[in-house]
Parts: sequence; structure tokens; C-alpha cells
Amino acid sequence: MTEEILYGGDYNPDQWLDRPDVLKEDMGLMKKAGVTVVSLGIFAWSALEPEEGVFTFEWMDRVIEELHGAGVKVFLATPSGARPVWMARNYPEVLRVNASGQRNLFGARHNHCFSSPVYREKTALINKKLAERYGNHPAVILWHISNEYSGDCHCELCQANFRLWLKKRYGTIDALNKAWWNSFWAHTLSDWEEIHSPVPRGEMTVHGLNIDWKRFTTDMTVDFMNHEVRALRESGSDLPVTTNMMAAVETPDRDPGLDYWKFRGVQDMASWDSYPAWHAPGYKAYDFEEKGGPGAEDYRRASEVAFMHDLFRSLHHKPFLLMESTPSKVNWKPLSVNKRPGMNILSSLQAVAHGADSVQYFQWRQGRGSFEKFHGAVVDQSGRDDTAVFREAARLGELLKKARAVAGSAYGSEAALVYNWENRWALEDSQGPVNTPGKGYLEAVRKHYYCLWDRGVPMDIISGEEETLPYKLIVAPMLYMVPKETAKRLEAYVKAGGILVTTYLTGYTDESDLCHEGGAPGPLGGVLGLRVEDLDGFPPHEELSSGLTGASDTADYVEHVHLTSAECLSRFSGYPHDNWPSVCRNRYGRGAAYHLAGRFAVESLGRFYGDNLKAWGVEDAGRLLSDSKGAVNIQVRSSRDGDFLFLMNWSAEPASVELKGSWADRETGKEGRRWDLDGYGSFLLWGKK
Ligand code: GAL
Repeated sequence: MTEEILYGGDYNPDQWLDRPDVLKEDMGLMKKAGVTVVSLGIFAWSALEPEEGVFTFEWMDRVIEELHGAGVKVFLATPSGARPVWMARNYPEVLRVNASGQRNLFGARHNHCFSSPVYREKTALINKKLAERYGNHPAVILWHISNEYSGDCHCELCQANFRLWLKKRYGTIDALNKAWWNSFWAHTLSDWEEIHSPVPRGEMTVHGLNIDWKRFTTDMTVDFMNHEVRALRESGSDLPVTTNMMAAVETPDRDPGLDYWKFRGVQDMASWDSYPAWHAPGYKAYDFEEKGGPGAEDYRRASEVAFMHDLFRSLHHKPFLLMESTPSKVNWKPLSVNKRPGMNILSSLQAVAHGADSVQYFQWRQGRGSFEKFHGAVVDQSGRDDTAVFREAARLGELLKKARAVAGSAYGSEAALVYNWENRWALEDSQGPVNTPGKGYLEAVRKHYYCLWDRGVPMDIISGEEETLPYKLIVAPMLYMVPKETAKRLEAYVKAGGILVTTYLTGYTDESDLCHEGGAPGPLGGVLGLRVEDLDGFPPHEELSSGLTGASDTADYVEHVHLTSAECLSRFSGYPHDNWPSVCRNRYGRGAAYHLAGRFAVESLGRFYGDNLKAWGVEDAGRLLSDSKGAVNIQVRSSRDGDFLFLMNWSAEPASVELKGSWADRETGKEGRRWDLDGYGSFLLWGKK
């Protein structure tokens, strides 16, 4: 989109309309911090249309002119994330109805019904006005559509739309009854009108209904976004569009409940908001030895954030935008820990390392009141530029200028990991077969990702439903829901020479969450070369070894598999699963499929990947390294002329790296092979081709 790494953040001058002095001050401070872009007007609807049909764009005219004069670009927002009070008063239908059937009162944000014709009309109108007025302004370079779309609405309009959606999907009520297995508990329906969204005082036990409601909610949201974009296009703006998305695995509580894979058709590029709980105590996601000494949970967290960056890059297979992050603290965490010195540069460079073409904050300046007055900002209540936060932000601004050649450069992955929302929803909703909390899908995905990230294997994240799978390795943990089409593509991928890794709980159900006839792994039986007899929940006091490391390393899930054409590479030892295959391989066509029949500890998984990557022909960071000490992760982005190498130390302890070749520091120009990193230190290095 531009030839630089854009730098800036959410800017809310609509909170300072009576203070032109603050606007002036902001322009000076932005220059000092090296800001090149702001996201403007995200929650400004009441400042833009204070009364129905009365538009007040003059303040925005002034702000955009000032920004333009200061050389700052604008991501202009459509304001649908929060509606003005007159709209809720005049048209209560715009407010959401919750799962208890109550219509919400005016308040908060993201409190609007996507079905409401009034909300759609009002949104289209304000979007058109914005596009007409600013769509051709030289400072405005992208549309920031709404804000973190999320949530659902249970009003009558949404119920009617849901029924229409179901009619389209199933055609007849009989087909729906079959797909939802409605003969169970006498649920057979005779008319579409009998269908209601899943709610606690009604139906929550039909898995097919639950997942279809989530699919519908995604489709409605995508449809609403399309509606917003159409209004901009009809007013002659052809600027690229994006919507800022939320984390999905980094912090499970931030999951939007939407299938982001479905947004690929409606936006031009991906952008997301990253708020990990850096340095926070008491959050231990899974079993592994912390790297890098005390407090080094950040190393593991860094892998979770890296996963998200990879996901958003993979969404469109091109650079994405880091639309929001905090320069210091996040005020809504259970404990709001400030980023430690170096951490803001480190975490921002990490985004760039994984394919971001921007680093942006929430927020540029702290507001004086309400919910986010204590959220981190580049400019805090003091308004000063000599705070530690401002200084580090300004240093990063300088560094990103020197890194401009990174913009647009590629991130090459030979490996991909499957993360599939529908699979997650189906698994999490299912009663059994073994009820670990949330079934541990996120945990499994993160664990496998961690083991590859830890070795510096570049990875794409995919849904598993892509038409083409141009990888050497695909890892699909707990792919429980496997429609026939997905199985066909994975099978063809292996036949053509690919390596597939699957685990326990693979291929149990189809797209309606109906169990495959003949049992698991359903349509993957041929390519995996095995069948599953049963899955056992494994209690924590029993010990079981997969044979990978010799240690007791298996928890929660143990599958009893019988080999049809696969070979057994390792067996379980321990009562009562002695001798059951734990690791299987099926050579198939020119490739091979591996099946891991239990939930192994990180160490064993790491051993599994470490032992096999070379044979699979998948490169890791070893090709660049002579030696590495400490919690360092390495990533590469490549351009035509050379490679950018990112060295990142995810611990408060110093670290050092010895590279095979000589590289130049982009910040200082220094060249060398050996790089000593401070705690939370980072380097952006450059090597000519
Ligand atoms: C994001 C949101 C921003 C701001 C931020 C605070 O989810 O998009 O508007 O609220 O969180 O962390």
C-alpha cells in the first residue's frame, strides 16, 4: 500500500473538539515520535452527526488538513462501531437483543443489530458522506471499516434472517432435521418458523443448530461489512478496505466468535489488534520448561502472538497491518503490567518480522475520562514527550524509517498449521468424547505451533479448506470435523509428496457435526492408514509414555488405533495402554501422513519435529545460526535485493547469537556475525543477496 512501514495509531480528536491547542500540540508531538499514519474517527459518529440528518464535518476537515500538512496519512474509519444516542432513541430496533430475549439499552459499543434495516440505512448514509467528502483526499489512504466486529443479536429480524439462511443451506426442513439429527429427544421440526437461535431458556443441546448459528452470525457480519464497503464504493471511493480484527488464540477471552477465514472476500488486506499480557504472572498455558530464566513466560507468549501475526498474514497471503497495540499497558487486564524497557520495540518488530507493514497503537493520546483514560498511550495525561514510553516510541519511529525497505517484502513458509474456527466451535460445543476444558483445541494448536516456532520454522496458518496447499509440511492438530472435500484435498496433497501430521480426535465428524459412519478418522482413513477403535480420557494420576523421550509424557487423550497400512514408529508404555501405537506413519503416494495418538508434552512433540524436519526437507533457523544462547527467536523477511533478519530476545535475561554469515544492523550500520542482545533486546539486520 505504501513504501514504508507505517507508524502511528488510533487518534481521537473528537474527544478534544473544544481544544484546538491540543490538536496543535498533537501535530508537534507526532512529528517528534515519527508518526506517519493515524486511524481517525473510529467512534466519532456523534461528533459527525450529532442529530439525525445534521452533519458536522468541519472539525474533521480541519483535523485532516492539519494531518496532511504534517505529512501524516489517514486510515479513515466508518463509525458503525458505536451509534449515537438519537438513533437508539428514535429507532430502538438498532440495539441488540441478548440471549435472554431482552433488548439492550443504549450504551457501550458494538451494541447494534446487523439485520436492522434502519442501522443499515444510517450506516450507508454516513459512509457515503465520508466517502464523498474525503474519499479523494490525498491524506486518506485506507478505509478502516467499523471496529472489531463481534457478537450476535437474537431479535426477531435476526431470527427471520436465520431461518432464511437455513432454508438456503438445507432446502427442505427434512434435510435440516437429518443434518441436526433431530429425531434425538423428539426434536423433529415441521416448519421453519419453529426454529429459534440457541438461547439458555430454549435450545442449546443441538450441535448442528449451535454451529449453524455461529456460521450465520459470521455470514451476517460479513454481509454487513459488505454493505458498508458498497456504500463507500457507490460514492466513488476505490481505496483499499480493512477491518481491525481481534486475537483468536493469543487470549481466548478475546475471541470474536467469528470465522475470520470468511472475511477474505470482503477486505483488501488484514489488520488486527494485539494485546498480549506481556510479563504478567500466573498464566501458564501448557507444560514446558520456560526458556531464558525467571519471568521468561514471555518466550511462550511470543509464540502465541507470532501465531496471530502469521494467521493475519496468511489470511490474504500478503503483508498485514498491526492496527492496534499498546506502547505501555493494557488497562483491562487482571494485572496491567507496563511493557518493560525494550519490549515495545521488540514486540513491534516482531509484528514486522511476521509480515506487518505497519505498527500502530491504541492510543495516541489518553482521553481524560471514561473507560480508557488509563489505557497506555504514546502521550499520557501529562502531555509530555520526555516519558520513557514516549522516548521508546520515538526511537521505534526512527528505526522504522530506516526499515522502510522491509515494507511489502515477503515471508516464505514451507510449513503450514491448520487452525479452523468451525472445527473449534464444534469441538468446544461437543459433549465428549473426553471432556477436558474447552477440549484443549487452542492448547493443541499453540503447542504444535510453539514447537516449530521454537526451531525457527516459518509457518503459514491455514483453514485446511484451501484449494491449493503449496507446502512441504501441514500440521493439523485435533481436526475433529473433516468434511469429505477437506479429506480429498489433504489426501491429494500427501499423494503429491506432502507431509501431513494429525493427532488424536481427527476425522470424527462431518460438516454437520454428524459422526462419520465407520468411525474415525472417517474419510482420512485411507491417507492415515489406520482406524480408531476408541478414545480414552487419561487421568492425571496415571503415567503413560509415548516412547518419544522415554518420559511419562501423555495427558488427557489416548487413542486406540489399529493400523491398516500405516507403520508404527513408537508405542505407548503404561497401564492400561501398553503397546498401543503412539506414533504412526503411512507412506502414501509420494508423501506421508503421521498420526500422533495421544496428547504429548511439549518436549516430546519438540523431539518429534526436531527428528523429522530435515528428512521432510523443511528448513529451520539452523541454516542461519552457528550458536544461540537464551530465549531468542529468529525470523526472516525477504526482498529482491536481500533478506531482513530479526533477532528477538523474549526474556529479561541477556542472550547472544552467532550467525553463519555477516549481517548489518539496520539501526547503527554495524556489521558482524555475533550479536549480544539485552533483556528484551532486538536487532533488525540486513544481508544483501
Ligand atoms: C480494542 C479496541 C480499541 C480499544 C482497545 C483497548 O479492542 O478496538 O478501541 O478499546 O481495545 O485495549
